[in-house]
Amino acid sequence: MTRNLSDQVALITGAGSGLGAAIARALASEGARCALAGRRRAPLQYVADEIGSAGGEAVAIPADVADEAQGAALVAETIRTFGRLDVLVNSAGLLRQASLVQTSTALWDEVLSINLRGAFLLCRAAWPHLQRSRGQIINVSSMAAVQGYLDEAAYCASKHGLNGLTEVLALEGKPHGIRALAVRPAATETPLWERDASIDVRRRMMKPDQVAGLVRWLVTAPRNLEFGPVMVRNFDDPWSH
Ligand SMILES: NC(=O)c1ccc[n+]([C@@H]2O[C@H](COP(=O)([O-])OP(=O)(O)OC[C@H]3O[C@@H](n4cnc5c(N)ncnc54)[C@H](OP(=O)(O)O)[C@@H]3O)[C@@H](O)[C@H]2O)c1
Repeated sequence: MTRNLSDQVALITGAGSGLGAAIARALASEGARCALAGRRRAPLQYVADEIGSAGGEAVAIPADVADEAQGAALVAETIRTFGRLDVLVNSAGLLRQASLVQTSTALWDEVLSINLRGAFLLCRAAWPHLQRSRGQIINVSSMAAVQGYLDEAAYCASKHGLNGLTEVLALEGKPHGIRALAVRPAATETPLWERDASIDVRRRMMKPDQVAGLVRWLVTAPRNLEFGPVMVRNFDDPWSH
């Protein structure tokens, strides 16, 4: 079987669960050596072990992406471990639903600092290495980047911001051969929804492996292809039943 990323290294944040874990498994199945980041070591190690059992290579590197020093250390540790960086996937994220007046300043800051500032800090720290490898950035955005949702002021603002950041990364990256794009999945069954959707609704959502398959396709697509933001929606609305 051809493994399209066998000489490449991917750094995936939010890799201990949900979309990040599924994307890590998908990129590893193409031969990418993976650095898995998130705050908790145990779920990262679990995914790293799964990848190892399937014949791939992955290391767990705990880090809080909202912390500038930890983000820089994460990139440095990835380079120390694998010697290069080809693909950065920003999937670390947080959804906390609250009406505008219930959105405390602390909640706003927390969501923005992970979903937007964290992605910015990592893109900036990874940039010189991605220039060297003519690498790629995938920002896991959301349909909340293009429309508003009730009780999601902070989340929608963070994802709209990620949109703008990604557009600029695509422009600034192009002269260096860096391809940057956003993937905007609709509701997907991950721990993100544990508090806010019923089991029945969650069952009808898209699955992380479905989105990860799309990301794998995008990352391995011929490099002369340029992508705008890629939306993936559920043919069936999980809330409409
Ligand atoms: N599920 C959906 O319906 C959906 C749809 C569109 C977009 N998205 C986006 O997809 C991304 C992944 O979410 P998910 O659905 O897979 O949910 P998830 O399973 O809750 O994953 C979020 C991950 O981010 C990590 N994380 C949170 N804060 C972090 C921080 N400060 N530093 C490092 N890692 C951090 C978490 O691990 P730790 O807690 O261990 O740090 C967790 O593994 C998010 O950006 C989300 O906005 C999700």
